[in-house]
Amino acid sequence: MNEKYEEAKKILKKYKQEQLLIWYDKLIEEQKEELINQIFNIDFEEMEKLYNQTKTTKSFANCKIDPLPYIDKEKLNKEDIQNYEKQGIDVIKSGKYAVVTMAGGQGTRLGHNGPKGTFELEVGEKKPLFTLLAATIQEARQKYNALIPWYIMTSRENNQQTESFFIRHNYFGLGKENVKFFVQNELPMLDTNGKILIDEQGMVKEAADGHGGIFEAMRKEGILQDMKERGIEWIFIAGVDNVLAKMVDPLLTGIAIQNKCLAAGKSVVKAGPKEKVGVFCKKNDKPSVIEYTEITEEMAEKIDEKGELLYGESHILCNLFNRKALEEIAKNKLPYHSAFKKAKYIDKSGVIVVPTEPNAYKFESFIFDAFEKLNDMAILRVKREEEFAPVKNAEGVDSPETASKLYINYMKNRNK
Ligand code: UD1
Repeated sequence: MNEKYEEAKKILKKYKQEQLLIWYDKLIEEQKEELINQIFNIDFEEMEKLYNQTKTTKSFANCKIDPLPYIDKEKLNKEDIQNYEKQGIDVIKSGKYAVVTMAGGQGTRLGHNGPKGTFELEVGEKKPLFTLLAATIQEARQKYNALIPWYIMTSRENNQQTESFFIRHNYFGLGKENVKFFVQNELPMLDTNGKILIDEQGMVKEAADGHGGIFEAMRKEGILQDMKERGIEWIFIAGVDNVLAKMVDPLLTGIAIQNKCLAAGKSVVKAGPKEKVGVFCKKNDKPSVIEYTEITEEMAEKIDEKGELLYGESHILCNLFNRKALEEIAKNKLPYHSAFKKAKYIDKSGVIVVPTEPNAYKFESFIFDAFEKLNDMAILRVKREEEFAPVKNAEGVDSPETASKLYINYMKNRNK
């Protein structure tokens, strides 16, 4: 161990991150080992680059940005829909379709203690988000008489709790062998001087590296291989927080196939220039999304000739990928975006600091940055009240109250 310690010390000296070992002597043996492993796993050069990136502002000035064409579901006639759906149904019925739920986040914004998927929504009775999603998959399984494997991305922080939750619920009757978990990656958090923070246990302070890490995680954790072995060709990926996500969708699948696209995404009309959603666009002629934190006011407010927002196709985090596209994307890392957040840490004098203002940089990659690796992508505009009921904030917009109303209404009206 001593050798490893010396080696770690050398690395830290080279990158001026010696603070990471100041509590080493106070740790128990397993923690010491874990800390050394954490240090060996950090790509310090990348961390330096990321820190320097926090000093530059993201600009689209040198990019050619255009609206991305879309198909409006409402404007499709019955015959078109049947044609598309037929192709999609063939895929689903022949066992070539799987669903992935990104559930790496905690319900912090919701004020929920635990994995976000375990948050209970009042829909006549209280039901956890995972239960509602499982019901959607179960229903599709019966409708199409197909297995439809379900893959769930967790984080180091919530993996165990998530798996235990599924065991307690007997995998919602879907069968243990058809529900697989995989853990996303993490990255250290930096203070404003570029120093890596230490957490309350004396370990490196790390945070989930965003849902863009899904591709690498799927490759590393053998999920892409598992899909290949099962003969899966089309994979629907969505967040855990949209209780109306139509995860098994023959229409979207048929549209992707007929348009010869290796990916497809759903949009809803943006509620207004300030809604906190990313919007689809073309960036240098490639499909892309501009996140709400990065769009300029001018772009957000631009109106087209029909009087609609020019960049008004909201990305609802409901995307479909061909397995080949996932394999290709997973070969390289996606860029990281930085966010300035509040992060609890232990300072040099051993005091646990609980900041009231943002104090640390967190780095996240976004799933939609992968779209730029594709030549084309089919976008389907769907109705918000049918497919988008996110549970994000404790109150107000996108809250349990709004989501439960949307969910209950949809269930009431869908068979009318
Ligand atoms: C997200 C999208 C935004 C979109 C909106 C629609 C991003 C960065 N932006 O915003 O373009 O319009 O949803 O609702 O995603 N997650 C992980 N691991 C992570 C981070 C997130 O699994 O490291 C999961 C969360 O559990 C959640 C989903 O990804 O299911 C969305 O993440 P969140 O951070 O809530 O994104 P939003 O800011 O709501």
